[in-house]
Amino acid sequence: METIETNLGINKTGVLTSIQEALKTKKGAESLTTPPPGDSSLLGENRVLYMQEGDPVGSVPVPMTVKGLLSSAQEKILMGNHVFMDKLGERIAFERTGTRLYEALISKYQGTSNQEGLPDLITIEQFYMEELKHFNMAAEIMMKLGGDPTAMTPSADIAGVAGMGWVQVINDPRTTFLQSLETILQAELVDNACWETLIELAAHLGLKEAVDEFTLALQEESVHLTTVKQWVKELNLDGKVSRLLQ
Ligand SMILES: [Fe+2]
Ligand SMILES: [Fe+2]
Repeated sequence: METIETNLGINKTGVLTSIQEALKTKKGAESLTTPPPGDSSLLGENRVLYMQEGDPVGSVPVPMTVKGLLSSAQEKILMGNHVFMDKLGERIAFERTGTRLYEALISKYQGTSNQEGLPDLITIEQFYMEELKHFNMAAEIMMKLGGDPTAMTPSADIAGVAGMGWVQVINDPRTTFLQSLETILQAELVDNACWETLIELAAHLGLKEAVDEFTLALQEESVHLTTVKQWVKELNLDGKVSRLLQ
C-alpha cells in the first residue's frame, strides 16, 4: 500500500520551519496591505444584507399530473408538499453522485500499485451497483408521482454543490485509495441520514410503496456505511483490512 511516509521531511508549510522567514513574510504582507478597520462583525452584517436582497436557491417543480401511487386525498397533500418533492429530487441527485464516487473509487483501486490489504473489489463494485440501483429507483418513484426526475430542486442543487469537494478529492490523481475511501465515508454518513428523513416524509404522506422501496435502500446504505467505516479504521490502524467482513 502507498504511504505518506516517503514525503515526510519535505513539507515546509508550517511557520515553525523557519521563524525568521515567517517574520519576513509577515512584515512583507503588512507593508503591502492595509487591514480594514474593525473585526469580522462587518462581514456578518454584509452576509445578512445579501440574504435580505438575494433570491432563494431555485424552486420546487410540483407535478402537473399525479398518477399511480396516490389516492385523491394523498394527491392533495402531495401537490402542496414541496418538501417531499424537494427531498426526493435531492436523493436522485445524491445517488447519482454516489454512483460517480464509487466509479472513481474503483479507478483509484485499479491505479494503486500494491493492492494487498485493500478491500476486495467485488464488494466495492456491489456498492457501486447499489448506488446506481437507488438512483434508478428514486427516479422511478418521482415519475410515478408525476414528477420530472431530471428537474433540479433546491435541495438537489445544494447537495450537488456541497458534494463537489468529495468528487474533487477522489478524482484528484494524487490522492490514495484510503484518502478516497475516507471521502466516501463522509458521503455515506450523509446518505444514510437523508434516506431516514425521506422515509419519514413518505410515511407522513402515506406513500406505502415509496416507504417500502426507500427502506430497502436504507438497509443497503446501512451496510455500505458500517463496512466503509470499518475499512477506514482498519486501513488506518493496520494498513490492511481484515478478511472477516468479506
Ligand atoms: Fe446512496
Ligand atoms: Fe451508499
